Amino acid sequence: MNLPAFDALPWEGERRLRFGPVAIDFCDGPDLFERESVDDCFVLGKSPSMLRSILAELRREPRRIVDIGVYKGGSVVLLNEIFRPDALLALELNPQDKPPLQHYLAARGGGRVTWARGIDQGNRRAVHMACDHVFGAASLDLVIDDASHWYPQTRASFTALFPRLAPGGLYVIEDWGWAHWPGDHWQKEHGGAYFADKLPVSNLIVDLMLLAAALPAVFPRVAFDGVSIYVERGAGEIARDFRIPDLVHNRGQAIPRFAASVPRPPAAIAASRPAQD
Ligand SMILES: C[S@@+](CC[C@H](N)C(=O)[O-])C[C@H]1O[C@@H](n2cnc3c(N)ncnc32)[C@H](O)[C@@H]1O
Repeated sequence: MNLPAFDALPWEGERRLRFGPVAIDFCDGPDLFERESVDDCFVLGKSPSMLRSILAELRREPRRIVDIGVYKGGSVVLLNEIFRPDALLALELNPQDKPPLQHYLAARGGGRVTWARGIDQGNRRAVHMACDHVFGAASLDLVIDDASHWYPQTRASFTALFPRLAPGGLYVIEDWGWAHWPGDHWQKEHGGAYFADKLPVSNLIVDLMLLAAALPAVFPRVAFDGVSIYVERGAGEIARDFRIPDLVHNRGQAIPRFAASVPRPPAAIAASRPAQD
C-alpha cells in the first residue's frame, strides 16, 4: 500500500499544505466562513489532526473516493493532491459555481474529478446515479461525509454508499458530535437555527454499534474520536440501501435515541425510533 505519511506531506507551517502552485489552508472558526478560496489557495474545513487520523485509519490505498460536501473546495483539492486517485466524485447540494475550483480542476484535475452539484446526500437515487456515472461497477475505497451533519441525510448516504466500498474500505463521517459539544451556542441555543430541530448524528453511532454486533463480517470495526466516525467495510455482503432497523437487535425493545431539541428542550434520550425512509 502506497500511502503518504502525514509528516512527509509538503507542509508550509502548521496549517498550510502546498502542492506546486496551489496551497491548501486548514481553517476553522470565522476564518472558515469569512475567507474565500482563490485560484492559488483553497480554504479547507478540517484540522491537520483530522487529516492525520484519516491517514491512520486507511487500510487500503484510496483509488476511488467520494467526498460529500464541497463548500469552498478545499477537501476536493486535498484528496486529489494527496492521493492522485483514479476517480474522485465530489457531491454538493449547493448548485453554485466556484470559479477557483473550476480553474483548479481544469489545470490539475486530470479528468479524474467529478464535481456533482445540486445533489442532496439524502437522495439515494441521485447519489447512486452519480456513482454509477463515475465509477460504473467498480467499488469504492474511501468515502468522507462532511455535508449536512443531519442524521436522516447522513444515514441515507451511508446506507447507499457503504455497501459500495471494497473490503478494507473506509467510511468517515465528520463532526458527528454537535449535539454534545459544550458551550452556550450548542447547549443553550441548541446549535442555532441550522441544528436546533434536527436529530443528532450521534444516533448513527448507536446504529453502528448495533450493526457491528449483529453483522461483524460487514462492520468489523467502528471507531470514533471527538470529531469523526470511522467505519471499516468487511468482506461480508450487504445490500445497497439496506434498512438499519431490519438488521439490528435489542431484545425486542426500542433503541435508545438522542432527540431533536425543539420545540421543547431536549430529553437526553428519547425511546422513539426515528423513521427510516
Ligand atoms: C462543512 S462544509 C464541507 C467542507 C469541505 N468538505 C472541506 O473539508 O473543506 C459542508 C458542505 O456540505 C454541503 N451540504 C449541506 N447539506 C448537504 C446535503 N444534504 N447534501 C450534500 N451536500 C450538503 C454544504 O452546502 C456545504 O458546502
